[in-house]
Amino acid sequence: MKPKETKNLFSLTTPLYYVNDVPHVGSAYTTMAADAVARFQRLQGKSVLLITGTDEHGQKIQRTAESLNRSPQDHCDQIVSSFESLWHKLDIQYDRFSRTTASRHAEIVKEFFGRVWDKGDIYLSQQQGWYCVACEEFKEERELIDQKYCPIHTNKQVEWRDEQNYFFRLSKYQKQLEALYQERPDFIQPESRRNEVVSFVSQGLEDFSISRLNVDWGFPVPVDPNQTIYVWFDALLGYITALLDPDSEPTLENALSKWWPINLHLIGKDILRFHAVYWPAMLMSADLPLPGRIFGHGFLTKDGKKMGKSLGNTLNPVELVSQFGADAVRYYFLKEIEFGQDGDFNLTRFVNTLNADLANDLGNLLNRTLRMAHKYFEGRIPNVSGAAIPDDHLLKSYAANLGQTVAQGYESLAFSEVCIATLNLVQAGNKYIDEQAPWTLYKQGKLDLVGSVLYSVLESVRLAAYLLSPITPNLSNEIYQQLGFSIDFNDKTTVETAVPFGTHARWGVLPAEQALAEPQPVFQRLELPETVSS
Ligand code: MSP
Repeated sequence: MKPKETKNLFSLTTPLYYVNDVPHVGSAYTTMAADAVARFQRLQGKSVLLITGTDEHGQKIQRTAESLNRSPQDHCDQIVSSFESLWHKLDIQYDRFSRTTASRHAEIVKEFFGRVWDKGDIYLSQQQGWYCVACEEFKEERELIDQKYCPIHTNKQVEWRDEQNYFFRLSKYQKQLEALYQERPDFIQPESRRNEVVSFVSQGLEDFSISRLNVDWGFPVPVDPNQTIYVWFDALLGYITALLDPDSEPTLENALSKWWPINLHLIGKDILRFHAVYWPAMLMSADLPLPGRIFGHGFLTKDGKKMGKSLGNTLNPVELVSQFGADAVRYYFLKEIEFGQDGDFNLTRFVNTLNADLANDLGNLLNRTLRMAHKYFEGRIPNVSGAAIPDDHLLKSYAANLGQTVAQGYESLAFSEVCIATLNLVQAGNKYIDEQAPWTLYKQGKLDLVGSVLYSVLESVRLAAYLLSPITPNLSNEIYQQLGFSIDFNDKTTVETAVPFGTHARWGVLPAEQALAEPQPVFQRLELPETVSS
């Protein structure tokens, strides 16, 4: 396998979402973050593969379908379309949608199982324990609430299981996993999650069962068709199946030939153990290279309370995006919640943040400056070159380091810092234009000075639009269009090739005398609605 680093490729995943229900805002959260990373990597000139998809097997899905009087496959097909439609509404540009019920996935699972089996890492034994179907996971007795409820699904009772299952020798990989966490401190992020995993593993790893009796909805165990492969063993391999080109034979060799190892797995903190412990051990057993990094983000709460069906305070992402638009939703969640921490959704804060940052600070700044360019410079960028503006100019000097700060922010998934650093430039632009008062300079006949003030403000707005484009692509399109460019940040090829970060994230890109479009509000002020129901 050719080392991937030399190939300028970047692959990343969201979790493969359970299809027990339509997508909720938690699933949308991870997916928006993943899309922002993918768009940023494209701006860096990388070829990107963004993988999302659905996890469709197992008892949870089987029971949901039964309760709705549907066949499991019909049920999955219906729910899958609601995921695809939400991703479309949110401008998520995924490259692969991996469904674990796909026949090519069956081939990959069979082959992978074979490798692990041949390694001697699978054996038959008795499984006893408390099982949470909603988590699809065995729970320790001491973790349970009131001795029978799952700590995550607090309204769901765990079920006792006592059956013969196939086990994976996780314990065999304890030392190798410890060495991995030691040698690659960035493998699990953020730091707090890494510590959690390291401490969990240090307590000693137990083998885990990778098959189930009495669950039909899944793939049969290749060596024993009476047993069904455990949904998590199957689902994690969905990441590998997703790497196959649409028309290539479903073999591990083909799947792993171009995009493996995956650079980044984005997940929520509740499924950290599966990704940071079980998954690398499975890969070690199959003698495969390990992914680059696993990032476990926090949970969303609403008005300070944990969001969930049981409390009836979930937030319907479809309704939110229909009401406020994709950019607004993407911006709020990525800016207002520090990625990695738990964070809250509050409608008043949502409306206020968007109005303050995007409608007022950014939108108004562009609008008023464009109007002046129309009035004083016949609708053209003034005849000024960015290079001619002195390096110690307030806006230019701030802009000089901004590209790098923002790049580091995207690399480390600090979306909030990206937004704050960029908005700082916009706020400085507002202050600067008020202080310079180009309308007065114009009356005084200082047209050169007016030109340089307007140029530096418009260039700051352009830079901000560029840097925010992975988060608010439509707003950035509007701004670029009004500045006289014909660039579409939703076009992957354009993003990969025509607007390189090395140039556009720097000061001085606006061409002198470029014709400007008519000023239009780029972001409509939001009104606080009566309610946004769940
Ligand atoms: N099917 C598994 C993942 C298999 S990956 C090979 C699964 N699916 S899930 O649909 O239940 O959860 C998917 C993701 O949504 C998880 O990363 C989870 O953390 C995230 N969220 C679920 N509720 C959430 C919030 N309230 N807030 C933020 N994210 C949350 O687990």
